[in-house]
Amino acid sequence: MYRIKSETDPNSDEFKKNKKDFLDILKDYKQKLDSVINGPSEKAVAKHKERGKLLARERINLLVDKNTPFVELSTMAAYNMYDNSFPSAGIITGIGRIHGQETIIIANDATVKGGTYIKETIKKHIRAQEIAMQNKLPCVYMVDSGGVFLPEQSKVFPDRFDFGRFFYNQARMSADGIPQIAIVMGSCTAGGAYVPAMSDETIIVKNQGTIFIGGPPLVKAATGEEVTAEELGGAEVHTTESGVADHFAENDKHALQICRNIFETIEIQPKQDLKLSSIEEPYYDPEELYGIAPVNFRKSVNSKEIIARLVDGSRFHEFKPRYATTLVTGFANIMGFPVGIIANNGVIFSETSLKGAHFIELCTSRNIPIIFLQNITGFIVGKEYERKGIARDGAKFVHAVANANVPKFTVVFGGSFGAGNYAMAGRAYDPNLLLMWPNSKISVMGGEQAANVLIQVKEDQLKARGKTFDSKEKEALRESILKKYEEEGSAYYSTARLWDDGIIDPIDTRNVLALGIAASLNRKYKETKYGVFRM
Ligand code: COA
Repeated sequence: MYRIKSETDPNSDEFKKNKKDFLDILKDYKQKLDSVINGPSEKAVAKHKERGKLLARERINLLVDKNTPFVELSTMAAYNMYDNSFPSAGIITGIGRIHGQETIIIANDATVKGGTYIKETIKKHIRAQEIAMQNKLPCVYMVDSGGVFLPEQSKVFPDRFDFGRFFYNQARMSADGIPQIAIVMGSCTAGGAYVPAMSDETIIVKNQGTIFIGGPPLVKAATGEEVTAEELGGAEVHTTESGVADHFAENDKHALQICRNIFETIEIQPKQDLKLSSIEEPYYDPEELYGIAPVNFRKSVNSKEIIARLVDGSRFHEFKPRYATTLVTGFANIMGFPVGIIANNGVIFSETSLKGAHFIELCTSRNIPIIFLQNITGFIVGKEYERKGIARDGAKFVHAVANANVPKFTVVFGGSFGAGNYAMAGRAYDPNLLLMWPNSKISVMGGEQAANVLIQVKEDQLKARGKTFDSKEKEALRESILKKYEEEGSAYYSTARLWDDGIIDPIDTRNVLALGIAASLNRKYKETKYGVFRM
């Protein structure tokens, strides 16, 4: 493969200015991230530690193989919601390796409202299970939770993807041959009791873990029986009498060691083969992404400059380099894994859509994972393009993306607007991972375009009634729409609501994608079958 020849000059004023602005964005992101990680109250953390318990992230660090990465997902879930009283939505999820096996870890954070579940906690728990199902990854549940956050019960209890979905998923995952291990490190109440009860093997920690369908206050109210939590459902009871748990652990560290020992007996078959190459660092320094990534969305960015800093040796075998150049397509390697890359380089035209659909067919016929690099304002609009059938050709692109059964990974490095989000494997298209850079934005259209559309609609309405739109009111409407889109279009608004799997520093993109691809090899890729393309 040829090396991309970069046209970026890291000594230019433009590059330096972009880098400076991007580093400000990155600093702000890291401060926000820090505030989330240190979000739980000092009092709750102290109380937790006094009980001899490890914090959720400490538990995870001890569970995964030494010196291997744990890719934490959606760390900023529920950010700027509920007065920031649910940092990380009270649950830590991610992908790590245990005895070399990529594994999903779901750990309650009991220092956040007793590890109870609000809507975003549930979304995060279910999203992690979905990743386990999609990739056939074993799942470890570290349970330390008071169950549903009762004031929010109507938003978390009864619906299809609410609390009950955890156990439905556990049953389906089990039937699919996915190993699930529960470590009960704290409370496990009511419906929560089914997490360990439905796992393959369950470990429970002495004097800490409890499992019961109804806690002592409920038992007293219902039957008058007075009983302590330990007598009702502690480690002793469940490992000697009820059989609800299988392994008795002296403390957190012991429980984590038992879990690692269980993993020595776990192996997932069959796996997907990919033709691997030796790993090569990019020829162009990934840190230069800071000087290239779009800060000002009015400025166009050549996505080949981004690709050159993500792929092995900066080598890229471009497909149709001379045709429909607003979409860059081609093959490369990321940490030795072969990938197809589809990157925006401007708006999507009819021919762009056809090129995209054709390239997806190449990747699915060769069983190669696809990386979508999004920086898209949308599909082209206007009389000429409608007549040429942009909707017809756009539909082919969307159709191909939706049916492609190879793993898909989406990185939003700039804007993600309009139906371009769909064609480029947005959340609704089930990419294996969807990651945002901190500068990125996502909304149905840009704020200015939305303001102009709404002003035009209002103007037409008033005109039909023989009135005119007062310029002051017009400006007030524009301001309010711009403000709303600015807030709702930010990567933080998206990640708080689990529209993505997390915000990442651009230079981590290679590593996160590589772990995602490695994880995808645990399930054989399904054959792709396309339906009817509108020709
Ligand atoms: N709903 C709402 N809030 C809850 C809650 C629940 N189910 N369980 C705990 N909390 C809140 C507490 O009010 C407290 O809030 P604060 O930090 O604002 O004061 C915080 O979580 C920590 O609870 P606390 O009892 O002080 O901590 P703990 O570590 O001693 O005990 C539990 C944690 C989960 C064991 C205990 O709170 C408990 O038993 N909760 C009820 C569990 C239950 O019956 N759930 C049924 C729902 S399915």
